[in-house]
Amino acid sequence: MKKLIAGNWKLNGSFDMTNEFDQAMADCADHVEWLICPPAPYIVNIENTARGAQDCSTNDNGAYTGEISAAMLSDIGCDYCIVGHSERRANHSETNEMVREKAEQLLVNNITAIICVGETLDQREAGQANVVVTDQIKNSMPAMATADNVVIAYEPVWAIGTGKAATVNDVTTMHAMIRDLLKSTLDTGAEMRILYGGSVKPSNASELLNLDNVDGALIGGASLKIEDFLVIGNAVNS
Ligand code: 13P
Repeated sequence: MKKLIAGNWKLNGSFDMTNEFDQAMADCADHVEWLICPPAPYIVNIENTARGAQDCSTNDNGAYTGEISAAMLSDIGCDYCIVGHSERRANHSETNEMVREKAEQLLVNNITAIICVGETLDQREAGQANVVVTDQIKNSMPAMATADNVVIAYEPVWAIGTGKAATVNDVTTMHAMIRDLLKSTLDTGAEMRILYGGSVKPSNASELLNLDNVDGALIGGASLKIEDFLVIGNAVNS
């Protein structure tokens, strides 16, 4: 499987920016798979990369004002959807169980779930990083998960938006731990993609994205600049 270079725009962008960005992606290199996850109103403007959403409801339909279902995302041609981002876990009190329910909704609607996991700085300093990430993966993973319908994104909370990415050693160690866990719990665990996210930028993309068990990146701030996003994807060895 190609490495996945995914942009998570969070609460950024505009109609015009989405169109300009999409236009610029028309001729991008194809040794990686590109994905843009803009805010929901702009998803349909994305035509030259895979289409992604940033969240979905745990519910199918009904009286849930403001929510968007996985079926609706499927209806507009979404290929991927992020679930369990640390900003949602922290700001919307999302639990592993809720993340798993969202991922299940996505899988039954043929959308690949990008399940985010990652420890806080306090947890890392307390030596709890492996325990936290293991618990998140075990409890957020739907029973029907395979390497074809789930991607794991390891995003240490302390590296998100701080400019301070995890080191090569941190990433190597954590991704190897996640790989072992996936292999021991899923038939297709050896192939499931594991993305790294947290302050990925042009200056560190090459050293991080070509490591063993790093199957792509989930990029926040640097995915908002076309040139930076392209440089990051092009840093992947072909
Ligand atoms: P930054 O790349 O801005 O650190 O954000 C990472 C992230 O949260 C992607 O989901």
